[in-house]
Amino acid sequence: MTRLARQPGPDPAGSAAAVEAAPDSVLAPDRGALGDGDAAVRVRDLTVSFPTADGPLPAVAGVSLDLARSHITGLVGESGSGKSTLALTLLNAVPPPGHVDGGSVTIEGVGDVLALHGADLRKMRGAEIGYVFQASQNSLNPLKPVGKQLLDLGRSHGERDQRVLLRRARALFDEMGMDAARVLASYQHELSGGMRQRVGIAFALLLNAHVVILDEPTTALDMLTQALVLEIIRKVHATRHLTTLVISHDVGVIGDLADRMAVMYAGRIVEEGPTVQVLAGPRHPYTRGLLTAMPRIAGDVSEARPLPGRPPDLASIPRQGCVFRPRCPLATRACAEAEPPVTVTGEHRFACFVAAQEVS
Ligand SMILES: Nc1ncnc2c1ncn2[C@@H]1O[C@H](COP(=O)(O)OP(=O)(O)OP(=O)(O)O)[C@@H](O)[C@H]1O
Ligand code: SF4
Ligand SMILES: [Mg+2]
Repeated sequence: MTRLARQPGPDPAGSAAAVEAAPDSVLAPDRGALGDGDAAVRVRDLTVSFPTADGPLPAVAGVSLDLARSHITGLVGESGSGKSTLALTLLNAVPPPGHVDGGSVTIEGVGDVLALHGADLRKMRGAEIGYVFQASQNSLNPLKPVGKQLLDLGRSHGERDQRVLLRRARALFDEMGMDAARVLASYQHELSGGMRQRVGIAFALLLNAHVVILDEPTTALDMLTQALVLEIIRKVHATRHLTTLVISHDVGVIGDLADRMAVMYAGRIVEEGPTVQVLAGPRHPYTRGLLTAMPRIAGDVSEARPLPGRPPDLASIPRQGCVFRPRCPLATRACAEAEPPVTVTGEHRFACFVAAQEVS
């Protein structure tokens, strides 16, 4: 069955042909990818904007996304597509002057994250959801050894028993193949980029969070270290039964690591589904372009073709019609009139008029 769910934004009058092409379609504006009880995190209709010279503009525009419990979800997209803004909103940590205009984020065991404030919010961060920030290799305090910073983190969450914290930290470093005593005594400059990234992961897991977000965990690492860090992410994910979100601009990283993947463009999730399905049968022209641009996936460097054009900044995202239209080789007149609705085939979802017709 092909079902259609409406993407927020202007009513897709231009999508009428695609909607009519699927006689058993249903409109479900609030629907995520997973059934009740399967998601540890549910994002619904989330919009986050930043002030610009043209007024507030959305970096995240009407996103609905589920993170499947105990699975690794990958979020991929070019620079500026809104990946970090979306991920930070899961922590209710949109950086000022950003603003959540609407929508909800619900985390299992926490409830509505966007309703939390003050001490409740601080407690939730770390204890329920761990975050490895983009460029976290450089985010340690250069003036304190790692062990002291870990104890500070524990204390700030009310964990005063140093022995418990150190035991957890040692177990984490052992699990990651590092000499725990050495790492705990080291300053940032005494650790390699790969070690710093692993320390960042240990920080995210120290308080036993069940949801972990890693923003570009392998960027700036050489290939061998990248492979090692990916292996460690796989391992801690599996041994700790985590729900994990990995963000990368590199489809290869997401393909290696994630069970499910979501493709983000100009603040929208344009395609989502089980990784094998999305990689074997990408539907959205943007996903196809990302894959064709990847030598590793195209199979041969000479066959890799870069995506035409550049990713838009907030001011240049089209205000009407499909946001990918200026770069899309398949764009039709209808694409200029309204945002494409989300088409759902099994667990695979995508938002494109032309792709919807292909499956109908
Ligand atoms: N603090 C801010 N002030 C103004 N605009 C911002 C701010 N943070 C992000 N933006 C804008 O929001 C959009 C999305 O940015 P975001 O950092 O979420 O993208 P991203 O996909 O994580 O990119 P990258 O791959 O480069 O990390 C961009 O156009 C960016 O310029
Ligand atoms: S075909 Fe139209 S709806 Fe699909 S991605 Fe291209 S511009 Fe967007
Ligand atoms: Mg980012």
